[in-house]
Amino acid sequence: KPRLYSGMQPSADSLQIGNYIGALLQWRDLQQSYEAFFSVVDLHALTQPNDPAELREKTRRTAAQYIAAGIEPSKSTLYVQSHVRAHAELAWILSTITGFGEAGRMTQFKDKSQRFGADATSVGLFTYPVLMAADILLYQTDIVPVGDDQKQHVELTRDLAERFNSRYGTAFTVPMPVIQKDTARIYDLQNPAAKMSKSAESDAGVLWLLDDPAVSAKKIMRAVTDSDGTVRYDRDEKPGVSNLLVIYAALTGRQIPAIEDEYAGRGYGDFKKGLAEVVVEEFGPVRQRALDLLADPAELDRLLAMNAAKADAVADATLADVYDKVGLLRRL
Ligand code: TYM
Repeated sequence: KPRLYSGMQPSADSLQIGNYIGALLQWRDLQQSYEAFFSVVDLHALTQPNDPAELREKTRRTAAQYIAAGIEPSKSTLYVQSHVRAHAELAWILSTITGFGEAGRMTQFKDKSQRFGADATSVGLFTYPVLMAADILLYQTDIVPVGDDQKQHVELTRDLAERFNSRYGTAFTVPMPVIQKDTARIYDLQNPAAKMSKSAESDAGVLWLLDDPAVSAKKIMRAVTDSDGTVRYDRDEKPGVSNLLVIYAALTGRQIPAIEDEYAGRGYGDFKKGLAEVVVEEFGPVRQRALDLLADPAELDRLLAMNAAKADAVADATLADVYDKVGLLRRL
C-alpha cells in the first residue's frame, strides 16, 4: 500500500470546520486505500505561546477529534509527534541542507513574523517547515493531504528530499501534496476574505467542532452574506454565500448546483437554517464521540502510546539510514 502522512497542530481546544472539511474528511476516506500516519504535531504548537497544562490537554483533545471524525486507530497510525524522537533529530539534519533564503520565502512565516514583530518571532517559527518536512520524510510518504495553506511547505519538503537524495544517495520518497480543490480553503463566516483559522481574532466567524451545536447554528444564522438575495455560487461577487455553499456541499456530499436549485426563490434565512441543520446533524455525533473518548484519558493515552511504537519503528529505520548516509559515526 502507498503511504500517506498528515497532521494538525493542537493549537486550540477544538478543531475548526476548515480543518474538518479541508483535511479530516479526506483523511477518513484515504485511510482505506493508504497506509496512513496521522500526527498531533505538538512540537509545532510550541512555536506559539502555550500554557503547558493546556497544551497537554489540547493534544489529547485533538487526538480524540481525529478518532471521533472517523480516523481508525487500529488501521491508521495516530500518534503524538513528540512521542517519536526521530522527528526532532531528522529536522536538525534537514536544517543543514535548507537555505536561509529558502526558509525565509515561506509565506506563512513571513505573515506570522510580520504580525509578531522581529523580537517575538522565534527561530523555531522560522524552522517550522523543516520540522514539517521531517515529519513527512521519516515515513517514506507518497501523498500528503492538506488544505492549500500548507502547499508551499509540502513543496519545500519535496525540494529537501530531492536535494538530500542527490547529495547523499536516496533515503527519501519524494511526496506529493494532495489538495481537494473545492474545499482547500474554508473562509471565516464573518470575514469571507480570510481563511477560517483556529487563531482568528474574533470567535463569531469560526465554527468549532466541539462547540455546542446551538452555538454553531447561531453563528451560521449570523454569517455575512450580501444584498443580492439569491443562493448562488460566485466566489468573487458573493464570497459569503459561496463559502456557505461549499460547507453545505462538503458536509452532505451533494453538488453545489443541486443545493442552489433547492433554495431557488427562497431567502438566505431558509438557506442558513438548512445549513445549520446539516452542521448540527454532522457535528453532534462527532462531538459526542470526542467527549466520550476524553472521559477516559488513560485509555486514550494508552492508544496513543501503542501507535507511537508503530510510528517509531518506521521512523527509526529512516533516521538510521540518514545518519549513515551523512557520515555520522555509528554507536556500537
Ligand atoms: P494546521 O493545524 O494549521 O491545519 C490542519 C489542516 O487543516 C487545514 N486547514 C484548512 N483547510 C481548509 N480551510 C481552512 N480554513 C483550513 N484551515 C486549516 C490545513 O491546511 C491542514 O491540512 N503545518 C501544519 C501541520 C503539520 C503537517 C505536518 C501537515 C505539521 N506537520 C506534516 C501535513 C504533514 C499545520 O499547521 O496545519
